[in-house]
Amino acid sequence: MEYFLGIDLGSSSVKVSIIDGESGHIIAKSFAPQTEAPILSVQNGWAEQHPDDWWAYLKTALRQAMVSGNIKAEDIKAVGITYQMHGLVLVDKDLRVLRPSIIWCDSRAVPYGEKAFEELGHDYCLTHLLNSPGNFTAAKLAWVRENEPDIFSHIYKYMLPGDYLAMRMTGEVKTTVPGLSEGMSWDFADNRVSDRLLSFFGIPSEMVADTVPTFGEQGLLSASAATELGLRAGTPICYRSGDQPNNAFSLNVLNPGEVAATAGTSGVVYGITDKVRTDPRSRINMFAHVNHTASEPRIGVMHCTNGVGILNAWMKRMVAPQVSYEQFNDMAAQVPVGSDGVVVLPFGNGAERILENRQLGSVIHGINFNNHNANTLARAAQEGVAFSFKYGMDIMQATGMDTKVIRAGHANMFLSPIFRTTLATVADAEIELYDTDGSVGAATGAALGCGYYTTPEEAFRPLHKIKMVTPDRSHQDAYLEAYARWEEVLQRELNA
Ligand code: XUL
Repeated sequence: MEYFLGIDLGSSSVKVSIIDGESGHIIAKSFAPQTEAPILSVQNGWAEQHPDDWWAYLKTALRQAMVSGNIKAEDIKAVGITYQMHGLVLVDKDLRVLRPSIIWCDSRAVPYGEKAFEELGHDYCLTHLLNSPGNFTAAKLAWVRENEPDIFSHIYKYMLPGDYLAMRMTGEVKTTVPGLSEGMSWDFADNRVSDRLLSFFGIPSEMVADTVPTFGEQGLLSASAATELGLRAGTPICYRSGDQPNNAFSLNVLNPGEVAATAGTSGVVYGITDKVRTDPRSRINMFAHVNHTASEPRIGVMHCTNGVGILNAWMKRMVAPQVSYEQFNDMAAQVPVGSDGVVVLPFGNGAERILENRQLGSVIHGINFNNHNANTLARAAQEGVAFSFKYGMDIMQATGMDTKVIRAGHANMFLSPIFRTTLATVADAEIELYDTDGSVGAATGAALGCGYYTTPEEAFRPLHKIKMVTPDRSHQDAYLEAYARWEEVLQRELNA
């Protein structure tokens, strides 16, 4: 058997998939924990998770998958990892974790990134880093330097969540060029680590991990990790990528003009370009895609809304905790387009990049106690998420990124007919839904990275389109009116 293991370290769980290289079929799949993993927030705007918990979730999910698929350790030929982006993990020289991870939606570093954007200069940042240093990994480390000097003095290396899982598996600290770019320490113009950003933040360059290729052997499973995970010692890790580039990869989105989307805890529209055209206000981001090289640039242009599935989950918990997500989607479908005037702004999960890192908080606007109910709120939440995508996509369009055809996995909020039809209609886009997800993408990446597949065409033979969502043209005006109302509430809140 030639099987490949994909690991997806998400914010709500660790998911694993084991695929058979020859058929491309999924042999086993699992995730842990079964209820959404906690995000610890000791202060408003902060968000942390402990790397030890990620490791424990991985062990549980993997054990379940190996048992349910009746899989022998030696059948797993390579491992691929995808992970929640922009987080900060710190280890000392014995590779012990120094503090909980400050994860992607933690907003404490915003002032550090803003200061860097001003003092290094917008021009420098946008031409070299392609973004404001924003709230990304390097700015988070600058926060630690200033606020936790004792911890800072013990740092051997800093890394991303996916680098951490790889470190636990191999005993080596490595990262990738796309990884450095998502942490904002990659200089695209000079094609090297940005010493200027590091020195601005006071980060010694020795704290930056060495890079390994996104596809290719990145390290071998140590004997102790193999015992803990029930895998074979020496199994190679052959692929690693942030969850958004990986989502695009899993949908075979690799070439300029192609666009992918996700709607998990956060939601993203991510298109590929070979030409850098940034938003002057850095409301959308640009990161190195999985196949980026200096000579053949492949840049992922991304809009991100932090509050997507996390809003849907919160709303369900508040108004209909007893129902399934499917039933919640049915509830939303009872309400007409525009949710009877109720508007939800989904910005309750930290600093939102499309709002220049403002922490607006979520807003529920326009409730009437006599005729609105849980169904109204279900729809308004899902519409609010779709409208935030439209808002971000308009900024992407302004940089020249066309988003008229979008590929997404048939998962998370794309399972909701209200969400996906609202998105297709307000964005006037066709959404193709495929039978894949991040962990399957990571397993495919492992097979490509170790050379089992030689081309993406071969790797993506099993990718199967299961649904096409088209704009609801007969009601498009109503959708656009609802979007205009949403944007009006947003502008009012931004100016308040
Ligand atoms: C992307 C982003 C989020 C996280 C979620 O830039 O911040 O989508 O990757 O895991």
